[in-house]
Amino acid sequence: MPVRVRVAAPADIPEGAGREFVVGSRIVAVFRTATGWAAIDGICSHAGGPVAQGKLTGNIVTCPWHGWQYDVTTGHHCLNSRIQQSCFQIEEIGQDLFVTVPD
Ligand code: FES
Repeated sequence: MPVRVRVAAPADIPEGAGREFVVGSRIVAVFRTATGWAAIDGICSHAGGPVAQGKLTGNIVTCPWHGWQYDVTTGHHCLNSRIQQSCFQIEEIGQDLFVTVPD
């Protein structure tokens, strides 16, 4: 059964920034890019680093622990197509941001 949670107000996350939230049993990294919202698994596939704390450049986030990079709009690792962060639905409705995970 999917879990849908209000995580923040849109104004809480400035463009170019990321934030980490717990949604159901998942840690989710939410990013605001120049073109919209993205939500991916917040635990880095390499060694569990906090993806939401990484530097966001365009649509690319760099994990702060060892530098793995992911496209936040697809979850794809930038150098290895076999590595993929899960992506989650994110919706902006009025003054609320909702993330849905397949719990
Ligand atoms: S934990 Fe993210 S790059 Fe190593």
